[in-house]
Amino acid sequence: MSKPNQTLGEFIIENQTSFKYTSGELSRLLNSIRLAAKVVNHEVNKAGLVDIIGNAGDTNIQGEDQQKLDVYANEKFIQTLTKRNIVCGIASEEEDDFIAINSQDENNQNKYIVLIDPLDGSSNIDVNVSVGTIFSIYRRVTPLGTPVTLEDFLQKGSAQVAAGYVVYGTSTMLVYTTGDGVNGFTLNPAIGSYYLSHPNMQFPADGNIYSVNEGNYSDFPVGIKKYIKYCQEDEGERPYTSRYIGSLVSDFHRNMIKGGIYMYPKSSKNPKGKLRLLYECNPMAFIAEQANGKASDGFTRIMDIVPTELHERVPFICGSVNMVEKAEEFMRNEEL
Ligand code: AHG
Ligand code: MN
Ligand code: MN
Repeated sequence: MSKPNQTLGEFIIENQTSFKYTSGELSRLLNSIRLAAKVVNHEVNKAGLVDIIGNAGDTNIQGEDQQKLDVYANEKFIQTLTKRNIVCGIASEEEDDFIAINSQDENNQNKYIVLIDPLDGSSNIDVNVSVGTIFSIYRRVTPLGTPVTLEDFLQKGSAQVAAGYVVYGTSTMLVYTTGDGVNGFTLNPAIGSYYLSHPNMQFPADGNIYSVNEGNYSDFPVGIKKYIKYCQEDEGERPYTSRYIGSLVSDFHRNMIKGGIYMYPKSSKNPKGKLRLLYECNPMAFIAEQANGKASDGFTRIMDIVPTELHERVPFICGSVNMVEKAEEFMRNEEL
């Protein structure tokens, strides 16, 4: 149940009972993500000042090394998640391998696994364009009190217990699902609280926005090329428009509100696509489905794909259900 003027903290506590494993730990985990996102937000907002206060790689006035924002975001999320005795393992797009937490402690009862893209759309930072953070949460599958293994991380997206993103845009928002719909909260920077601003978010079943890097067009599979041509045909009945920010979080967020499709297909340059299944596609697919949208690789539901490696990439088509199904139809027809 959502109430007007509710803060994210209140919402998490009040909705805890609707979560099937109600132990309070997931609430604490979401609260720590909320906190880390505020810290990262503060740093992202200062990005335009780096030329004045020092560039990444410089040493600041206290003699500390200044870091690139994606490294900073990675450290902040890992630090915050590690400290609270809830998470037993973290995998990040910025780390080569997964991180096991308190792995030698046999009494360690931490059961949650977090996968994270700490800064999504990082090429947009230097030009003052929206970036984001994406997170995905699972329960471990190996026994409590033993060190986590790769198996805990290579779960299908359908096993996620929660997923969300933060968009550092004209305002900062945190949007998440625990499998009971999608809710969006806007940060009031003066007070430092997130307020429920977008209850029960839904992808419109149809939309008129298609989002794809058309610079890669000549390398795309024929089905995708034909779908793009279909969107471009101006026959009055199909008034599509193209919008592509180059930050998955921002493109997805806009499309969920307005109706649209996001595509990152495979190409000869990226034979498996570019986006990462575990850090980007699965969490966005979970949110999309919880908001009545759809996500596939063109043929298969994203959340049904069995991962085989941490940094696996996958073609990604996601958004308004009728648009995704139309794109899938073009893909299928080309395969026959
Ligand atoms: P990241 O900054 O985490 O590496 O992710 C960037 C991703 C995604 O956010 C975006 O949609 C896509 O890469 C953009 O890729 P192109 O520049 O190839 O279009
Ligand atoms: Mn990313
Ligand atoms: Mn990233």
